[in-house]
Amino acid sequence: MLKVQQLLKDDPTQGQSASGGWEQAWKADATPWDTSDVQPALRELLDERWTEVGVPFEQLKDGKALVAGCGRGCDAAFIAKHGIETLGIDLASTAVEVARKHLGAQPDAPSNVTFEVADFFAFPLPDDKPFSFAFDYTFYCALPPSMRKQWGARYAEVIRPGGILVCLAFPLDGEREGGPPYSVSEEAYDADLLGSFTKVYSKEPKASAPGREGREKMLVYQRK
Ligand SMILES: C[S@@+](CC[C@H](N)C(=O)[O-])C[C@H]1O[C@@H](n2cnc3c(N)ncnc32)[C@H](O)[C@@H]1O
Repeated sequence: MLKVQQLLKDDPTQGQSASGGWEQAWKADATPWDTSDVQPALRELLDERWTEVGVPFEQLKDGKALVAGCGRGCDAAFIAKHGIETLGIDLASTAVEVARKHLGAQPDAPSNVTFEVADFFAFPLPDDKPFSFAFDYTFYCALPPSMRKQWGARYAEVIRPGGILVCLAFPLDGEREGGPPYSVSEEAYDADLLGSFTKVYSKEPKASAPGREGREKMLVYQRK
């Protein structure tokens, strides 16, 4: 069976081209990260713990939400259901096809979410409404660690002052070579974000997708 690690290793762009390793993985159905469901930790944060973040969610609805590297799009659709216009982007066109089809098959699909093929590092920012919210899950860990500084700098461009970046840190695997997924740590997120963001929340979730228990932490940052 094809493995995403091999597909990315064989790709000179390390997945960062439209027809590269990630697109190949989606085409080959080699997507072991895809749980086809909303992440339990995101559900918990938005539905049970949001007041602990200290920024009223209503206040963020003047802008849009972004999910970069959205894959099947379950998290993007869930965020949209909270009443904020949401954009899910993925570099892989097959992922976007899957996301659109998955959304269309849901009887309670929200109408305020869209999926587009786009490169997080280069897509044009909307000129109608800025992004006031973003959710990053299994995108940071999908990137080669050499791109992490660029990832943090890009979120600082993308999110408006006062806006929120929710990072579900995964996989917290300690010292481990190789990927994706590359092992992450709270310190690594902090190092890439704290220049432009303030950390406002840091908690282990009560529940995770099967096999991910004890390997996740919810981190919330506010754009300075
Ligand atoms: C490990 S998957 C995670 C998908 C989804 N977040 C999930 O949890 O199921 C990483 C995704 O990021 C996408 N991706 C990689 N580089 C990207 C980029 N520069 N811009 C947008 N998407 C990208 C890949 O195509 C892939 O679908």
